[in-house]
Amino acid sequence: MQSARGDESSSERKGGEIDQVEERYEKKPTFGGKVKNHYKRFWWAHLIAFCAGFLIVSLCLVYVAMPKIAQKGIDDATLSYTSLKFMKPSLDSLTLSVDALQHSDSQFTPTLDAFNVSMHLVTDGITSEKVITQIGMPQIHAHHPDTNIVITDQKATIVDMDQVTAFAKQVLVQESIEVRMEGKTKLHLGALPVNSVNYNSSITFKALNGMKGFNITEPKVNLMAAPGEPNLTGMALIPNPSVLTVELGTVMMHISTKEKGLIGNSTIDNFVLNPGQNLLPMHAIVDTSLALGSVDKQGMVNMIIVGQTAVYNGVHLPYYEAALQSHTLTLAVNLQSLLGSI
Ligand SMILES: *[C@@H]1O[C@H](CO)[C@@H](O)[C@H](O)[C@H]1NC(C)=O
Ligand SMILES: *[C@@H]1O[C@H](CO)[C@@H](O)[C@H](O)[C@H]1NC(C)=O
Ligand SMILES: *[C@@H]1O[C@H](CO)[C@@H](O)[C@H](O)[C@H]1NC(C)=O
Ligand SMILES: *[C@@H]1O[C@H](CO)[C@@H](O)[C@H](O)[C@H]1NC(C)=O
Ligand SMILES: *[C@@H]1O[C@H](CO)[C@@H](O)[C@H](O)[C@H]1NC(C)=O
Repeated sequence: MQSARGDESSSERKGGEIDQVEERYEKKPTFGGKVKNHYKRFWWAHLIAFCAGFLIVSLCLVYVAMPKIAQKGIDDATLSYTSLKFMKPSLDSLTLSVDALQHSDSQFTPTLDAFNVSMHLVTDGITSEKVITQIGMPQIHAHHPDTNIVITDQKATIVDMDQVTAFAKQVLVQESIEVRMEGKTKLHLGALPVNSVNYNSSITFKALNGMKGFNITEPKVNLMAAPGEPNLTGMALIPNPSVLTVELGTVMMHISTKEKGLIGNSTIDNFVLNPGQNLLPMHAIVDTSLALGSVDKQGMVNMIIVGQTAVYNGVHLPYYEAALQSHTLTLAVNLQSLLGSI
C-alpha cells in the first residue's frame, strides 16, 4: 500500500502543484479515519489479542476460580445420617453400615472419586487429630439438592483404641455427638479439568442420651431357682432416640443399693440396640435378703445399675466395657409388690 501511494504521487507531480496540494488536503485523515485505518491494517493483531484475552480469562476461570468453586461446593455441603450401624464388634474392627444424606445448595452436580475419610471425634468444638477409624467412601455422584451415600457392611478397622473408647462413652452418655470426616478426593464436572478437593465435613447426630427412660417391665421373681441360677427375670426397656444401631454382645451389669452395696448382677444376651424402643430379655441373680434389707418405707428399692462387661464371640470389648462402666443407671423397683405378687 505504501509503495503504491508513492508511485501515485510521483506520477501526479507533473500534473501541477495545485492539484497535488488539493489532493493532500483531501487525503489528510480525520481522527476517526485514523482509527479506521489502524483497524483495517492491524485487524489480525486485535483478533489475536482478543483471543488471547478470552483464553486467559477462560483459563483463569477453569484453573484458578474453578478449584475454588469446587472446594467451596464441597465445604458448603452438609452431611446427616439416616442410619448408622456398628455391628460384629471385635478387638480391632467393627462392621459399619452407613446411610447418609449429603445436602448441597449448589446447582453443580459433580462426581467425586471413591476415597478414604478418617473419622475424628469432636469434643466441645475441638477436633481430635487422632483417628477413630477410616471409612472407605464410595464414588459419589451429587444430585441437587440431596445425595444419598450408602455404605453396607464395611469392615472399619480401629485406628486408635482410646479414640474409639472416648467415642463409645460419648455415644452412650451424651444427647448428641459430633464427628469430623477428613479426606482428599478428585472432583469431576463435565469436560472441565479434574480438581483435587479436601473433604472436611462435620456431622452432629443424636446419641443414646444415657439410656434415659430405662426400665424393667414384666419383672418375675423365681423362688425356686437353684443357687447361682437367675431368680429375677424381666424385659429391659431401653429407649434409643438416635439412628444408631449398636451390637454389644452379652452385657453383664452390676446391681447395687446404697444401703447394702452389690446385691446381684443382671445379664442381657445378644444385646443389639436398635433405634426406637428396645425390649430385651434380661435375667438376674439377686440376693433377696440384701434386696429386702434395702427396701425403704414405701417398699421401694433404689437399684444402681452399672454395666461391667460386653463379650462378643467370647471376646471382651474394652471400648464398650469402659463406656458401660462410666455410666450409672438408677431404677426404683417396688420390691414389696413384686414379692407380694408371687
Ligand atoms: C483406602 O485405604 C485402603 C487401606 O489403606 C486402601 O487399600 C485403599 O486403596 C484406599 N482407597 C482409596 C480410594 O484411596
Ligand atoms: C478441617 O476443619 C477443621 C475445622 O475448621 C480444622 O480444625 C481442621 O484442621 C481441618 N482439617 C483439615 C485436614 O483441613
Ligand atoms: C418403670 O415402669 C413402671 C411400671 O410401668 C413405672 O411405674 C415407672 O414409673 C417406670 N420407671 C421409670 C424410671 O420410667
Ligand atoms: C436368688 O439367688 C441368690 C443367689 O443364688 C440367692 O442368694 C437368693 O436367695 C435367691 N433369691 C430368691 C428370691 O430366690
Ligand atoms: C452374678 O452373681 C452370682 C451370685 O453372686 C455369681 O455366682 C455369678 O458369677 C455372677 N455372674 C457374673 C457374670 O458375674
